[in-house]
Order: sequence, then C-alpha cells, then structure tokens
Amino acid sequence: MRYLYARLICSLLTTMGVLQLVPQPLADALGVAEDFGLIDQHGQFHRLSYHRDDPETRAIVVFTHGMGCPLVRKRYVDLQHLATRYEPNGIRFWMLNANDQDDRADIEAEALDFGVTLPILDDVTQEVARSLDVDRTGEAILIETANLNILFRGPIDDRLGYEKEKSKPTRSYLRDSIDNFLGGKPIETSKVDAPGCLISFPSWEAHLRQPVGYADEVAPLIQEKCVICHRAGGIAPFAFSSYRKARGWADMMREVLLTRRMPPWQADPHHGDFDRDLSLTPEQKQVLLHWIEQGAPRGDGGDPLASSPPEVDAWSQGKPHHMIELPAQEVPAQGLVDYRYVHLTSPFESDTWIVGADIQPGDRQALHHVIAFVLSPDGSRGRGRKWLTGYAPGVRGGMFPENTGILLRKKERLLFEMHYTPYGRETVDQTRLGLYTADEKPAHTFQTGIFIDESIRIPAGDRAFERSQSRMIRQDMILYSMNPHMHLRGKAMRFELETPDGQKEILVSVPDYNFNWQHTYFLSEPLRIPKGSRLSLHATWDNSSLNPSNPDSERAVGWGEQSFDEMFFGTYQFVRDRGQSLVGTWNPVPRSQE
Ligand code: HEC
Repeated sequence: MRYLYARLICSLLTTMGVLQLVPQPLADALGVAEDFGLIDQHGQFHRLSYHRDDPETRAIVVFTHGMGCPLVRKRYVDLQHLATRYEPNGIRFWMLNANDQDDRADIEAEALDFGVTLPILDDVTQEVARSLDVDRTGEAILIETANLNILFRGPIDDRLGYEKEKSKPTRSYLRDSIDNFLGGKPIETSKVDAPGCLISFPSWEAHLRQPVGYADEVAPLIQEKCVICHRAGGIAPFAFSSYRKARGWADMMREVLLTRRMPPWQADPHHGDFDRDLSLTPEQKQVLLHWIEQGAPRGDGGDPLASSPPEVDAWSQGKPHHMIELPAQEVPAQGLVDYRYVHLTSPFESDTWIVGADIQPGDRQALHHVIAFVLSPDGSRGRGRKWLTGYAPGVRGGMFPENTGILLRKKERLLFEMHYTPYGRETVDQTRLGLYTADEKPAHTFQTGIFIDESIRIPAGDRAFERSQSRMIRQDMILYSMNPHMHLRGKAMRFELETPDGQKEILVSVPDYNFNWQHTYFLSEPLRIPKGSRLSLHATWDNSSLNPSNPDSERAVGWGEQSFDEMFFGTYQFVRDRGQSLVGTWNPVPRSQE
C-alpha cells in the first residue's frame, strides 16, 4: 500500500499535467500499478510494462484467480467472451493466481479442464497481489497500459453473489468501464466490492508477527545470492557492502525482484534443477521483499555485509596444467561493445585430451561472460563446434564428468565468444583460459550436440516469430548441460525431450530471454536419455519495437555473428551412455570457491 500511495501522488501530478493539454478523464484515486513480471500456466512470461507503448494494448484486465472458488469458475465463460469481444479494441485479459495453496501444475490442469486459454499468471510469492492490494479472488482490475493507472476494480458484473446467482446481471461494471475508457469518457463507478474467496498470505502474516531480521536473514541471503557480482570490483555496478548500501538500494531491489530482472537467472523454476543456480526461491524473495516493505529495519546484531566477502578463487579447480592468455581486449568507457570473437590455435604440439577447463576473467567489472568452443580446422560457422567451457559471474566451468575428456587436435582452434559491458572507465581485459589435461585417453568423450538454423529470417516488427528443430537421439546418452543462444531479439528458448514411450518433458525453459545473461544450465542430476528419444529446441524472437533490447525493429533480420543479427543456436553437452555410474561423474564447482 505504501507504494500505491506514493505512486498515486506522482500519478495524480502527471495526470493533472496532462489534463492541461488534452482534456481526459481523470483516473480515479485507485492508484498506479507497480510493474511486475510473471510466468503463466503455459510457461510464458508477461511483463506489465512491456505493453506501455503497445498500440495494440490500451489496457489490461487482471482478474484475480484461485482454484476451487465458485465465484471464479463461474466467470471463465464471461472472461473468454469479454476477451473475444474486447481484444480487437486493445483490451487484454490476464488472470492472476496468488493462492498459496495452488501450484502451477494444478492451475494448468484446471485451465485445460475448463477450456481456459487466457493466461493465468502464477504469483508464487504473492507479491503482485499484495502490491495490487488484492485480498479476494474474483476481482477485475482494469489497468491503463500507457501509465499503469488503475481505472476500475470490482466484479465483472452483479450477476454473482455469495451463494446467489441471477440469470442476468443488472449492472455490467467491467464492460461499462471498458466502454467508457475506450470512448474517452469518465468511468462512473470505479470501485465496487467484488465477491470472491479470501486469499491468505501466510508468509506475510508470519513476517508481521516476527519481523524479518537484517543480521540473521537478509544479509546472509544477499551474501549468498548477490555478492558474487555485487562486490567491489565485481560485474554489478554497486556493492552490497553494508547495511546502509542495502537500505539505500531497497526500493530498487523491490523493483528488480517484482519484475524478475535480478538475480539474473532466466530459467523457469518450474522445469529442471540446476547447479550453480543463481535464482532465489519464492521464500527467499519474500524475505527480501517483506523486509523492504517493513522499512528495511536494521534491527540487532552485527552487519555481515560490512566484512569483506571471501575472495573469488582465481581457478575453481586449483592450478591448471596449462594456462593460455587471451589477446588483451580494450574496453571503452561507455557504449555497447559488440560480441568479440577471439580465435586461437591449439597450444599443444600434439593431440591432447582435455578433462576440464576454466576461465579466469581479467577485469571482472567489464567481462560479462565468455563461451569457449573447440573448432574443427575447417571451422564452418557453427556446426563443427565442441563446447569447452563457459564463464559468467557465479556460473563457472570446471572439470568434465569423471573419466571424460575432449580431444583437442593439433590443428584445431579455440573460439572465445566474449561479451563486455563498459562501466564508465576505459580498461584492458586480460582473460586467461586454464586447461586440465590427461595423459591417458579417458574412457568417455565429452560431446557437444548442436542445434543450428542459419536460414532464419525474422520479419520486421514480428512480436513472436518462432522456429523449432528436433532430432532423433540414435545412441543412449547422458545429458549434462544445455546452452540456449540467441541475440538481442531473443524472447524465449527451451529444450524439450520426448522419450520413446511418448513422455514429454521440458528440460530447460528460458521464458524471458536476456542476451546479456548467456548461462549454460548444468543439470544437478545428469539425465539418461534412451535412444529413440526426440530432443528439440524451440525459439521465439521479438523483433518489434516493444522489445527494449531491439536495435532496429524496422529491419527483417537473418543469421549473423553480431548481436544486431540473429541466431538460432543451442548446444548440449553429453556423453555416450555405456551404463557407467552417474555418481561422482560431475564435478560442480564447490559453492565456496566461486
Ligand atoms: C551474476 C551477477 C549478478 C548477481 C548474482 C546479482 N546481480 Fe544485481 N546486477 C548485476 C548487474 C551486471 C547489474 C547492472 C544491470 C544489468 O546489467 O542488468 C545489476 C543491477 C542490479 C540492480 C540495479 C537495477 C538495475 O537493473 O540496474 C539491483 C537493485 C540489483 N542488481 C539487485 C540484485 C540483488 C538483490 C541480487 C541478489 C538477490 C542481485 N542483484 C544479484 C549483476 C548481478
């Protein structure tokens, strides 16, 4: 609520400013919605502010959903009708499920059962509902997209009450509000109490009884999940180095958590478990958000953030057998630096087995990430690549699975895809590659599978251009990791598996792709995939002006190496399954050493 009031004042001021120029209905005093990002029952991502400048979406109706509530179920048909009727006029319909007791699988099943196709956003932490000051299901909230003003909130109409139902409504509140809004007229009744089922907020209530502690809850969480980047000399622009810093950044923290911008981990938590996972659990997010909402109190106890964080180990696996210095890279003080592709020839006189690889960044503030590949000598653009290792802050490479190696042939080359983000001062980055080698041929070869489509052509302005590729797996294999890759217009990407018995599974899904964060997703449990399975990669690009990263929405874009061109590219790392044990086969970097 605190947020609503503060924003309400701003919004009234702006609205009044606008009023002097264009006569417009004054948004009633219902406040301004905070921006948020959530995933729906289909695994698709929705961010409110995406539609801010969207000529096709003038307002969004958010209808509060909950399973098992008759006042919701009896509205499915109404909502579908309203959507069909008003979507052509730029009114979009979302449902919002904040019930603590409903999980995504249930919501998906219910939607299928009732033929609901509208997105049902899964508000796992309940923070969007709280931010919108929702306490019941069955309420419709009409939000103007250009300014996020809340124009109306209440029931769809007066047809339903508690254990009462009329055959026809006498008042159609939502339709009247939408019609008035579309017709530029004032909304007569902007707030009506909506009958619905109460939503309980157990985590918030617990934190009301026992306020969140800074020293014992918040600071350790920030240390664990944020300080790897938010430290002196780290990639993030500021360090969480004391209570005052955390308090000063508190409102901004709230914004990035609600919109899912931070921590930078795009994988949908609904699918797969990953090592080196940077994300926060819903409970952890609630700790931070509730602490902020309670005014970011200092409380008792020491200040864990004030002591310097543990040094980042130069090499995650101890001193490598071979170290290669990459050519030094000059990074300007500002602007966008396009991808750098650095090629090196093999440093070895003869064919050599590599059993692990790690990257040591020179300037951690500038080097955003690196992906390293081995290229066959004929080095065609994408096909002949073998994934070698990757670096992103907190997500480092390391040893390959036990008894597994990659053969680096004498004539082969190494390719480094390097991404830099300038940070206000010119710098020279001297990054190094560390290789761990074996004298004997390991029992298994670490292999890279590649999905690639150089024929892509994404039409100008297209919001959701899709492309998929799938293949039959011909030999039993053990899958270790996946690396989805697109460029600035990338919107979503996912790896899917269908086993010979017809079971389908999403292995990793990145519903809100961000070019800046090219993570390799390492499965915490390697996955045995039987031959005869189908593995597929699905990509969606957003080449419209609504995509804030899009360098040029007027241009159809095809394959190319620069970030302003596009790619359909995904690699996966695997070993042939010869029945070897999975125990101890993967050597993730110990957390303390990252
Ligand atoms: C893997 C590195 C990394 C981790 C982990 C990380 N951040 Fe960030 N953070 C960044 C970078 C880099 C930026 C600068 C903006 C950008 O590049 O997106 C940033 C920016 C921010 C901002 C400023 C807002 C903005 O968008 O510029 C806030 C607030 C923030 N981070 C909070 C957090 C919190 C809270 C956590 C932990 C829960 C966290 N970050 C974890 C790298 C990280």
